[in-house]
Amino acid sequence: MASVTSLTASVHQRLADALASALPEADGVDPLLRRSDRADFQANGILALAKKAKANPRDLAVRVVAGITTGDVIEDVEVSGPGFLNVTVTDRAITENLAARAADPDARLGVPRAEHPGTTVIDYAQPNVAKEMHVGHLRSAVIGDSVVQLLEFTGENVVRRHHIGDWGTQFGMLIQYLDEHPHELDHRAAEVSGEEAMSNLDRLYKAARKLFDSDDAFKTRARRRVVDLQAGDPHTLAMWQKFVDESKIYFFSVFEKLDLEVRDPDIVGESGYNDMLAETCRLLEESGVAVRSEGALCVFFDDVKGPDGKPVPLIVQKSDGGYGYAATDLSAIRDRVFHLKADSLIYVVDARQSLHFKMVFETARRAGWLNDEVTAYQLAFGTVLGKDGKPFKTREGETVRLVDLLDEAIDRASAVVREKAQDLSEAEIAERGAQVGIGAVKYADLSTSANRDYKFDLDQMVSLNGDTSVYLQYAYARIQSILRKAGETGPQARPELALHEAERALGLHVDAFAETVAEAAREYAPHKLASYLYQLASLYTSFYDKCPVLKAETGEQIENRLFLCDITARTLHRGMALLGIRTPERL
Ligand code: ARG
Repeated sequence: MASVTSLTASVHQRLADALASALPEADGVDPLLRRSDRADFQANGILALAKKAKANPRDLAVRVVAGITTGDVIEDVEVSGPGFLNVTVTDRAITENLAARAADPDARLGVPRAEHPGTTVIDYAQPNVAKEMHVGHLRSAVIGDSVVQLLEFTGENVVRRHHIGDWGTQFGMLIQYLDEHPHELDHRAAEVSGEEAMSNLDRLYKAARKLFDSDDAFKTRARRRVVDLQAGDPHTLAMWQKFVDESKIYFFSVFEKLDLEVRDPDIVGESGYNDMLAETCRLLEESGVAVRSEGALCVFFDDVKGPDGKPVPLIVQKSDGGYGYAATDLSAIRDRVFHLKADSLIYVVDARQSLHFKMVFETARRAGWLNDEVTAYQLAFGTVLGKDGKPFKTREGETVRLVDLLDEAIDRASAVVREKAQDLSEAEIAERGAQVGIGAVKYADLSTSANRDYKFDLDQMVSLNGDTSVYLQYAYARIQSILRKAGETGPQARPELALHEAERALGLHVDAFAETVAEAAREYAPHKLASYLYQLASLYTSFYDKCPVLKAETGEQIENRLFLCDITARTLHRGMALLGIRTPERL
């Protein structure tokens, strides 16, 4: 079903038509419509157009205005300044448009579904096997999940890839140790919780490391194990699989706590490209993209140099024959482009890996795997800082465990919920506490643009005032409570009613949802949606302060205001879901 066009889009269309009939060469020119404080919208497109046509912009503006029909959608249009158009829409158009949107059975709230969707492979939520997850892994997971939701909602085919770190030399040590101490991971997987799985791994890792550092014979055996692993020795592989499985139990428990869906088949770690590595190197070497240098297979770049001024290459294969991170990523590109048939590749990875991706993408372009039609983009994110503005560490200077942070957020949020709770049971407080706490953590991450660093400040995150998810969740719950109190009287659009200023402002903002989602999806920018939602909640608050809902003057007005409440709530709910955040019905 075709989606409901926004009011913004129909005003846009009318202006474009008027422009084209005033000036034939203006056909297809963007009237540059913006929301404005002076009127509902302002169009600035005439200026550039007049300049190009060597016409007087005010004269042209007057001619355009003459071609616009007013009364049904557009209430009034005026020329202002050097040739801007100030456009006011009718109250009826606002209400009717929202009503059409509310009636859409697909509940898409005006957001169109792409007619010719592409395929995007998104690489996110990629922790490392046998290691604790830290705040950096939080960002990738949270941002990546929101981008997945945004893209899928706009109709894109999305393939998720969790490129976990499950390959490398440390596994030789771990495997050898486990082989010599076979009972240390003995248990039936189903009975082990995430925390337990991690502490098992942690214990094993420490013990293995200790032996590795103190016992030369063990060290030699461990090194030999790496070779066995890479050669695919079945027994060694089976041992390695144990580590991966154990780690996954832990990962899944953290993702579940984060209220994020991660599916097993989408976890394709570094090891998943093992069979492609030799061929990737061969292709690069044969095409001359990579060259041998001091025994290693390297790709050089004019603009990548070390502090000594010497070029720093991307090493695809080390001189001892081993493959590293770059070979895996290049093979993953081949898989994603040629096998998964992607048009776009997104990597949600820490900005500190930007040089790596720059070199990897450039190499893939030179090899012809990427080009203008098939592109790769690193959605690079900044660092999570402590309250002191320095990278987030414990007092002992260690990286903070992600689970500890999440637990603390949930505790704080539960306290907030408990304090405000009126008719909630203990179980409900616990459930809402988790939804509010995890929502707070996600929102703090998503409301700043990804490339910026942000401070992890739980006090601020769970605050009821200001730009927080708690504020948005309370706005939503408050609306639900009004709708419940309304009893028999249901939300009903009444387009014949004149609207209060605060109702118009709210209505016009709800109208902008589709454009906002489209922009956030196109730019991989969840923070644009977050700031839209915050504004929505703020406009709702001022509507609620100025316009009595259940005590409005007439029955029709009560219905129409309930309708505005309802469409606001639905927009909040949908928007928050696109950020991966729950909106409890009661708080
Ligand atoms: N496992 C890596 C880390 O923890 C992130 C992987 C990013 N993805 C990729 N295709 N290289 O830093």
